[in-house]
Amino acid sequence: MLHGINHIALPVRNLDVSDRFYRGILGLRAVGERPGMKFYTAGLHHHDLALMETGALFPVSGFAHFCLDVEDEQSLAAIYACCRAAGARILEPVDHTVMRAFYLVDPDDHIVELGVDVPQSEWGPWPNPFGRDVAYPELLSLADGRGNYSAQQILGGTSKSACA
Ligand SMILES: [Fe+2]
Repeated sequence: MLHGINHIALPVRNLDVSDRFYRGILGLRAVGERPGMKFYTAGLHHHDLALMETGALFPVSGFAHFCLDVEDEQSLAAIYACCRAAGARILEPVDHTVMRAFYLVDPDDHIVELGVDVPQSEWGPWPNPFGRDVAYPELLSLADGRGNYSAQQILGGTSKSACA
């Protein structure tokens, strides 16, 4: 029986640049490497993300993305504030009604969603209400006053993760 998604693998132009984004800003933990590849985990699997340096990339569609699970909205707001301080490219927060989220654009223009599931009891009957996406300005309010982070500190190449 299928259990869920184990990991995603992405092509990147430059592993060092991507490492500063996924490890340095988002705080994924590096767990291994092969020539031209790096592997990261957020804790659930040996690796949740595999990156391969390919140089040139295929154009991305603007829809393709993956979502990192965040434990609660307070954490989501803290990560949002930290990413904002780090100068990450952030798209508007969205309330998908079944989950609340915001989106980042990584150094290779891959879209990374960070989200929190709404409790399953609130999902509503089939079909799920994906037609009702609405703005989620509450995340901005939660994020304000957080994130006393220095972008230079975050992007300066320290091994300490910034937003985890
Ligand atoms: Fe998504």
